[in-house]
Amino acid sequence: MLISEPMVRELNEQVMHEFNASHSYLAMACQLEDWHLSSMANWFRAQAEEEREHAMKLLDYVLQVGGRVHLAGLSEPRSSYSSPSEIIETALGQERTVTEQINALMNLAVKENDHATQSFLRWFVDEQVEEMDSIGHLCGLARLAGDNLLQLDESVRALNRGGVEKT
Ligand code: FEO
Repeated sequence: MLISEPMVRELNEQVMHEFNASHSYLAMACQLEDWHLSSMANWFRAQAEEEREHAMKLLDYVLQVGGRVHLAGLSEPRSSYSSPSEIIETALGQERTVTEQINALMNLAVKENDHATQSFLRWFVDEQVEEMDSIGHLCGLARLAGDNLLQLDESVRALNRGGVEKT
């Protein structure tokens, strides 16, 4: 195996964190659908898909370096919120936590002089910068819209279109 057992263990942990983040975003999307805020729901659904891709990327890396993948059970996500703003704030907190988790993984890779994992994790470090920026933008839109939820949903629709054009 190319990397240490503790590194594999922590990468496996992160696989589960990313799947849990995906699950949580999906629950948020369902709550937003329930409120008929379909553009916001689509945004969170896309986030759920991205988190799943992150989990799979980590999982594939563990396999690639000869480690053993261990899939634990998922946590039940919170499924009830009082407002879209609460969902956005919760998502922001979730991304802050993931950023800390990625930084901790990078710290371990540096401590272990594990250049392969450092190189692999750089993509995640950059991705977290993008994700924090994106969710911060959503927080800003929510503040601007205030109680006008239709305005907020409309703004997120434009954001989704921008996202599609960018890819
Ligand atoms: Fe995979 Fe949003 O962190």
